[in-house]
Amino acid sequence: MLTAPQFTSFNPPRRILMGPGPSDVYPQVLAAQAKPTIGHLDPLFIGMMDELKQLLQYAFQTTNPMTIAVSAPGSAGMETCFVNLVEPGEKVIVCRNGVFGERMRQNVERCGGVAVCVDNAWGEPVSPEQVEDTLKQHPDARFLAFVHAETSTGALSDAKALCALATQYDCISIVDAVTSLGGVELRVDEWGIDAIYSGSQKCLSCVPGLSPVSFSEKAVAKIQQRKRPVQSWFLDQSLVMAYWSGQGKRSYHHTAPVNSLYALHEALRLLATEGLEHAWQRHRAMHQLLAKGLTSLGLEFVVAEPYRLPQLNSVYIPAGADDVRLRSTLLNEYNLEIGAGLGELSGRAWRLGLMGYGARRENVALCIQALSEQLASS
Ligand SMILES: Cc1ncc(COP(=O)(O)O)c(C=O)c1O
Repeated sequence: MLTAPQFTSFNPPRRILMGPGPSDVYPQVLAAQAKPTIGHLDPLFIGMMDELKQLLQYAFQTTNPMTIAVSAPGSAGMETCFVNLVEPGEKVIVCRNGVFGERMRQNVERCGGVAVCVDNAWGEPVSPEQVEDTLKQHPDARFLAFVHAETSTGALSDAKALCALATQYDCISIVDAVTSLGGVELRVDEWGIDAIYSGSQKCLSCVPGLSPVSFSEKAVAKIQQRKRPVQSWFLDQSLVMAYWSGQGKRSYHHTAPVNSLYALHEALRLLATEGLEHAWQRHRAMHQLLAKGLTSLGLEFVVAEPYRLPQLNSVYIPAGADDVRLRSTLLNEYNLEIGAGLGELSGRAWRLGLMGYGARRENVALCIQALSEQLASS
C-alpha cells in the first residue's frame, strides 16, 4: 500500500497571460465551466451542443454542417484534418514558415502521404507565387496545407489567395487557424477553405483543450470516398458526426468534456455578442498601441509590418538583456507572462500575445511599463 500523499488544494495565482497561449480566459467563461456537470446525452446538453455548432459556424463564417469541436487541443484538430483526408500515396503541398508548418509535414508522412514542402524564412508569410510554381510542378497534388497565423513567428499568410490557388489547381485546402480564429479576418466559405482547425485557448479566450474544426462539402466527399477506414478511431469524423448530429438521437462515441464545452459555448457567445468584425478591429487597435510602446523602447519586430499578426507580436531580445531572468522577473514581480522564442527564434525573440480577452488597453500598458523598467535595469 502506498502512503496517501497529503496536499492542500491547488490555488493558482491570477496571472496576466500575454504569451502565445493559453490566453487570459474571460471571467464569464470560467464561471460557465464551474456550472453543474450534467450527462453528455442529457437532452439539455444536446440542445447546448446544437447552439455551440451554430456559434462555431458564425466564428468560422461557414454553413458547413460538419463543424464541431474536437475533444482535445489544437494538435488534435490538426491531426483530425490530416488523418481523415490524406490517404497513403497522396501528395500534399505543405507550406513551412515556422514550427507548425513542419508539424503539418510530419502529420502528412504519418498518414503515408507524400509531402512536397514550400519553404519560406521564419518571420515571412507563405509566398503565393512559390505555392503556385509548386502546384504547377506537381499537378498530381491533392492538398494544399498551410498555417494562417504562424504562432512561432507572428507572421500572417494570405489565406484567401492561397485557398484560391488550391481551388484553381483542384486541391483541397487544409488551414491551421489555431491562432487566427477570432483575432484576424477569416471567412471559411467566402475564401473556399475546405478543412480548418483552431484551438480554444488563443483568441477565443476559452480554457485550453478543445479544437474547433470545419469541413466543406468537398472535404466531406473526400472523406466518404476513402478506400480504407481512418486509422484513428477517436478522430474518425464519420463516427464523431453521429455524436454531434443525429437530430436529437445521439449515439455514444466518447464522453464529451461537458464543462469545457459549457466554457466554449460561453466564449463563442461573447464573441458573437461583440461581433467578429469588432473583435478583429479590437485586436488591431491593441496591437498598434503595443507596437508603438515597443518601438519607443527600441525593440524591433521579427515580422515586417504588412504581415504582422496583431495577436502575436515577436520582437528581438535586445543585446544585453537576459532572456530567462527578464521573463521570470515579469512573472514573479508583475504576474505577467510573456512568451519565449520557439525553434529558430529560441533565445532570440520574445512573443507577446494580445489574444481575445487579453487584448485590452490595461494589459498593453502593464507590459510596456514592465519591459521599460526591467530593460532599464539590465
Ligand atoms: C499555429 C498552431 N497550430 C497548432 C498548435 C497546437 O495547438 P495545441 O497546443 O492546442 O495542441 C498551436 C499551439 O500553439 C499553434 O499555435
